[in-house]
Amino acid sequence: MEVVIVPDARAGGELVAEAMAQLLRRKPDAVLGMATGSTPLPVYEALADKVRSGAVDASRARIAQLDEYVGLPAGHPESYREVLRRQVVEPLGLGMDSFLGPDGAAEDVQAEADAYEKALAEAGGVDLQLVGIGTDGHIAFNEPCSSLSSRTRIKVLTEQTRADNARFFDGDIAQVPHQVLTQGVGTILDARHVVLMATGESKAEALAATVEGPVAAICPASALQLHRHATIVADEAAASKL
Ligand code: GLP
Repeated sequence: MEVVIVPDARAGGELVAEAMAQLLRRKPDAVLGMATGSTPLPVYEALADKVRSGAVDASRARIAQLDEYVGLPAGHPESYREVLRRQVVEPLGLGMDSFLGPDGAAEDVQAEADAYEKALAEAGGVDLQLVGIGTDGHIAFNEPCSSLSSRTRIKVLTEQTRADNARFFDGDIAQVPHQVLTQGVGTILDARHVVLMATGESKAEALAATVEGPVAAICPASALQLHRHATIVADEAAASKL
């Protein structure tokens, strides 16, 4: 596991966007696994800048979704499909035909999860998966005690994660869904390169457990210690407890 400490979120965003650009120069139809949350935003801005300036051609890239709320109506602005459309797909000049993601409004959610696993495999797997980290050490929506070999499935969110994410729902925790559909820890570990980005003091404890703690389901992100190509990009605040 490689740990890169950067001065701030902007520098981290530039670094990760450049890694994505280099991948696309080598493999123009690479599958980029993209996360939601506030942490990856500087990556998406820096990558879109590179596309606009002609530094990289992303026209054949494919974008894969990490997780999704269950039960939000199709087209809800906070569904992760919509968030990734706004923050990644459109700024990169792509259409939703380049997008791989499960439907959180599907009637049979587990069948949708299984179909998504199949779709990822048929796409050739994820080349670079970007993940953030929850304050409790979750990656995607794999909450503490998730199996480290789990596949895409339904999970129930902890109250802490619902409270953390209420800011995207007018600060109203009641609007945050209880259930989600998430790539499993095992699914994430299948990506050829996993990049975990963490910024801000609130992530310092979880990051220390991820990097220096035991590999344990209580901190799902710690499973990245087992990956042969995992990179942690942290700003100084998030790295302050390492
Ligand atoms: C949600 C997402 C995660 C993300 C986490 C942290 O729980 N499912 O993928 O890593 O939020 O979000 P933020 O980057 O806003 O702190």
